[in-house]
Amino acid sequence: MSKIPWKADLLLAPLPAVLVSCGTPDAPCVLTAAWAGIVNSQPPKTYVSIRPQRHSYAIVRQSREFVINLTTRAMMRQVDLCGVRSGRDVDKFALCGFTPQAIAGIGCPAIAQCPVSLGCRVTDILSLESHDMFLADIVSVSADESLVDANNRLQLSRADLLVYVGGAYHALGERLESSHYTAQKKPDHK
Ligand SMILES: Cc1cc2nc3c(=O)[nH]c(=O)nc-3n(C[C@H](O)[C@H](O)[C@H](O)COP(=O)(O)O)c2cc1C
Repeated sequence: MSKIPWKADLLLAPLPAVLVSCGTPDAPCVLTAAWAGIVNSQPPKTYVSIRPQRHSYAIVRQSREFVINLTTRAMMRQVDLCGVRSGRDVDKFALCGFTPQAIAGIGCPAIAQCPVSLGCRVTDILSLESHDMFLADIVSVSADESLVDANNRLQLSRADLLVYVGGAYHALGERLESSHYTAQKKPDHK
């Protein structure tokens, strides 16, 4: 490849297009986030970076809990809506037809329509410049039973997940094969 210099930019891809739910079962809130990821294996840790101006920011900061809900191709319009409308002005759960669903160990609701939800408890808040990064323990996971195969393994590739690349939504492509790293590792080592 003949590479050219490019400006320093946020060019990691693909990124997840997740719905981060927070609040309470009676007053749930949700925002779309692409600045989210895994940062540690044991204990399982994740993060989401949220601008302090967001309505959800104050809720997560105060409750120190949130749920990361994975999204699907079929949910693209709702994901986009939750990324442009604010919970300050509208009940996004009602607008999108989302059902709040309890998740173990966390007081805020997951979204029943999402195939996988990660219940997260905040351990650290890192103030960067535009965003604050909420580092969190993944304390529980709930997954749609149709994703579990005959060997009791979770097959995420069945979920038709939505991702974010270069400012646009994409569906994941073809599953190629299991990584050798995954095949070699002991069951609880990542
Ligand atoms: C694809 C996509 C990804 C986004 N990622 C983030 C993010 O990682 N962090 C963030 O603070 N806002 C992100 N946003 C913007 C928020 O979702 C948006 O401002 C939302 O309306 C905030 O809702 P709230 O005010 O109810 O919290 C994203 C928007 C879209 C469409």
